Amino acid sequence: MVTEQSVSPAPARVLVASNRGPVSYTRRDDGTLEARRGGGGLVSGLSAIGADGSGEDAVWVCAALGEGDREAVRRTEGRLDPADTGGQRVRMLGIDPEVYAAAYNDIANSTLWFVHHMLYQTPLEPSFGPEFRERWAAYETYNRAFAEALAQEAAEGAAVLVQDYHLALVPGMLRALRPDLRIGHFSHTPWAPAEYFRLLPDDIAERLLLGMLGADRLGFLTWRWAEAFKECARSVLADRGLTAHWPQDAAGDGGRHLTYAHENGPSGGRTYLAVHGLGADGDFLRERAHRPDVAERMAALREQIGVAPDGADRRTIVRVDRTELSKNIVRGLLSYRQLLLDHPHWRERVVHVAFAYPSRQDLAIYRAYTEEVQRVADAINTELGTPGWTPVVLHVKDDFARSLAAYRLADVALVNPIRDGMNLVAKEIPVLSERACALVLSREAGAYAELGEDALVVNPYDINATAAALHEALTMPPADRTDRAKRLAAAATALPPQRWFLDQLEALRG
Ligand code: G6P
Repeated sequence: MVTEQSVSPAPARVLVASNRGPVSYTRRDDGTLEARRGGGGLVSGLSAIGADGSGEDAVWVCAALGEGDREAVRRTEGRLDPADTGGQRVRMLGIDPEVYAAAYNDIANSTLWFVHHMLYQTPLEPSFGPEFRERWAAYETYNRAFAEALAQEAAEGAAVLVQDYHLALVPGMLRALRPDLRIGHFSHTPWAPAEYFRLLPDDIAERLLLGMLGADRLGFLTWRWAEAFKECARSVLADRGLTAHWPQDAAGDGGRHLTYAHENGPSGGRTYLAVHGLGADGDFLRERAHRPDVAERMAALREQIGVAPDGADRRTIVRVDRTELSKNIVRGLLSYRQLLLDHPHWRERVVHVAFAYPSRQDLAIYRAYTEEVQRVADAINTELGTPGWTPVVLHVKDDFARSLAAYRLADVALVNPIRDGMNLVAKEIPVLSERACALVLSREAGAYAELGEDALVVNPYDINATAAALHEALTMPPADRTDRAKRLAAAATALPPQRWFLDQLEALRG
C-alpha cells in the first residue's frame, strides 16, 4: 500500500534555490517548533507564481541554518509543512552542521563576500593554505547537495533560479545532472573587478566561473557588476587555457543582454548576462508603514529625538543597515560628527537616527565591527551631547516596524556603503519619507546607477565630503528637495519584486 508519506510531490516547473529560505524555526522550551517567516524580494517575487491561476507548481530549496531548522527537517523529511510557509512548497536541506559552517561562514561569508566587497586588508590576508582547501571541499559538498535536490525536484525542462554567491557552483553541477533544465543564477552582491577576483587561487577562480557559466542566464543588479563578471570570465579563463569569447556586445532585449559563448564551458553553449535592478515594493511598504505598530514606534522615536531649543522639530538623518562590514556605518558616524564640528549651528537641531541590526554574529570580525559602531556612537554622544540632546540615537535590535517609522520621519537618508550590490534602503526611504527626504548616497552602491542623478553622491571613504553632503542635504531648498524626492521614489519602485522575478523567469524560458 502506498502511504501518504511515500508519495513524492509532483515535479516542479519553477524552482528557486537560496541558502536562506523563506522560513526559520526555533525550538520552544516545550519541544515544539516555532516557525518565523521572512520577507524580502524573493519571497515577494515567488508569490507571483500561480497568483495568475496558472496552477504552476513552484518549490523553494534552501538550507537548514540552525538547530531549529534541522529539527524541522528531521520531523518532515525536509518537506516543510505548508502551514509554516504560507502555502509555499519548501524543501529544506539538512546539511551536516560542520560542512554547513565551513561552506557558509568560511567560504561564502569570509571569502567570497570579502572578495566581491573588496574587504581584505591585503598585507596579511587572504592567505590560502590547506585549511582553506578543506573548507572549499565543504563548499563543494554543500553546493552538490543543492544541485542534487534540485535535480530531484525539477520537472522536465523546468526553470531553476539559483541565488547568490553561496551557490555559485550549482549551475554547473545541475547542468551536468539535468541538461534539460533552464538554469538562471542571480547575484545579489557586487562582482569583484578581475584584478581583485584573482586574489583567489587560480583553480578556485576557474571553478567558480565555470560553475556560474553552467547557467543559461546570469543576472546582476547593475551593469557594473555584470561587466566585472564578464571581465573575470574573459581574463581568468583565458589564462587557464580555456577559450572564452564574446561574439557581440549587446544582443536582443533592448541591448540588455550580452552573449557569452564559451566553447568549453559546462553548458557547452551560451550564457546570457542580464541586469535586473531589484526595486522597492512600494505598495507593500506604504500599506505596512501605516499600521498601528509603526505609529507607536514613531511616537517613541519622536520622544527620543526631541525638539530643538526654539521648539522646532529636530531634523533627522536616518540610516538603517544590517551591520555588515561593507555598510560603512563607522565612517557615517564620523561624517555626522564632522558635520557638527564644521557647522555647529546644527547642534541641538539635528539627530542621527542609526539602526545597525545584527548580522552574521558567528563571525568574530562582525562582532568586533558591531562593537566599534556602538563605541563611536557613544563617543559622539559623550563629546557633543547636551542634557536635552542626544546627537546619535542608535538601535541595534532588529525591529522592522521601527525601521519603517524612521523612514517616515527621515529628512535625510544616509546610505554610504563602501560597496553594495544594490542597497534597498536607499530605495525604501524615499518611498516612505513624509518630509521629502534628501538622499546622501555612496557612488559604490548599485542603487547609484538608478538614483545617482537625484541623490547627493559621495565617495564613501571621504569623511569631509560626506559631512559636506549632509550639510547640503539639510539645507537643500524645499522645492528642489520635493522634486528630487518624487523622482527618487519613482525610480526606486520602477521594478518591484514580483516584476523583477517574473522578468527573469520569462527571459529564462525564452
Ligand atoms: C546580503 C546580500 C545578499 C545575501 C544576504 C545573505 O543581504 O545583499 O546577497 O543573500 O546578505 O545574508 P545572510 O544573513 O543570509 O548571510
